[in-house]
Amino acid sequence: MTSSQMKVLVIGFGTVGKGFFELLYRKRNVLSLNNVSINEIVDMKYGYIKNPGNDVIKEVEGGKIFPKEDVLSVIKESDADIVCEFTWLDLKTAEPAYSHIKTALQLGKHVITTNKGPPALKYKELVTLANKNHVKFLMKGTVMAGTPSYNLLELVPGAEVRSVRGIMNGTTNYILTSMENGKSFSSALREAQELGYAEADPTNDVDGLDAAAKVTIISHILGWKHEFSDVKIKGIRDVTPEQAKEKTKLIAYADEQSIYVKPLKLERNDILSGVSGVTNAIEIDTDTLGKIFSAGPGAGKVQTAQAVLTDLVTITKGAK
Ligand code: HSE
Repeated sequence: MTSSQMKVLVIGFGTVGKGFFELLYRKRNVLSLNNVSINEIVDMKYGYIKNPGNDVIKEVEGGKIFPKEDVLSVIKESDADIVCEFTWLDLKTAEPAYSHIKTALQLGKHVITTNKGPPALKYKELVTLANKNHVKFLMKGTVMAGTPSYNLLELVPGAEVRSVRGIMNGTTNYILTSMENGKSFSSALREAQELGYAEADPTNDVDGLDAAAKVTIISHILGWKHEFSDVKIKGIRDVTPEQAKEKTKLIAYADEQSIYVKPLKLERNDILSGVSGVTNAIEIDTDTLGKIFSAGPGAGKVQTAQAVLTDLVTITKGAK
């Protein structure tokens, strides 16, 4: 591929798809990405949109419906260089995202996803496929949205990771912080849903599965052997208001030997104990620097679009 035109196919035009569309066109000039264009969008609800205009979001939100097409056929017939996969999460089968991504990689297209299913459940297979076809399979948006997390390691070449520990689910941290301040579990969950943080099925948040998917993805990226099914998972349903007040947080942890998600009471001087509300945070323990830390939003429209842009820049840099 040359640095000339790069065409993007977007699969899924919900919050993330729309956020990415807006952010790409807002930042294209400043990032010298004028050669990148979204040429196709396919969405369950809106149909197949070829050469979307600037006002496509207004059009679909105003009720305009485009022809329905089978997504796999769209991928197969597309001349896109990059496929952005933004469909819904299924932590049991990873479908339909898994089939979309596999098909795109087999056809030699780069893939960016914000869907945790395929990288948590099918990482090795998909990365092997990407390598075989000399393309990238990138997923920054699956872990802490655009906030630097595992990608910090690109800035410290050679640093060996001893362990990773973090607050990787905004919904549960919001609930625990609210309980700390006297709110009930259920009203805090409702608020997290209203803020757009909770998963469509909030049991994935509350029972720790979302954080488990994220720590599994990090573990895969680090080359550790854990699978999603290896993660020992305990959610926050049994955390009492008293425990929340004592700085109990839902901690996701992995090192080479162990991987878990569980509520833990933190010491007041633990850097993670000060992380409140929907904020996410990660602490990476390395052999050269000791502990490095990053905190910020872990979800949201622009925040997730930033992650996609980060991955897009990784691909375009590699193509130059
Ligand atoms: N439901 C997730 C959270 C959203 O609350 O952190 C981002 O993966």
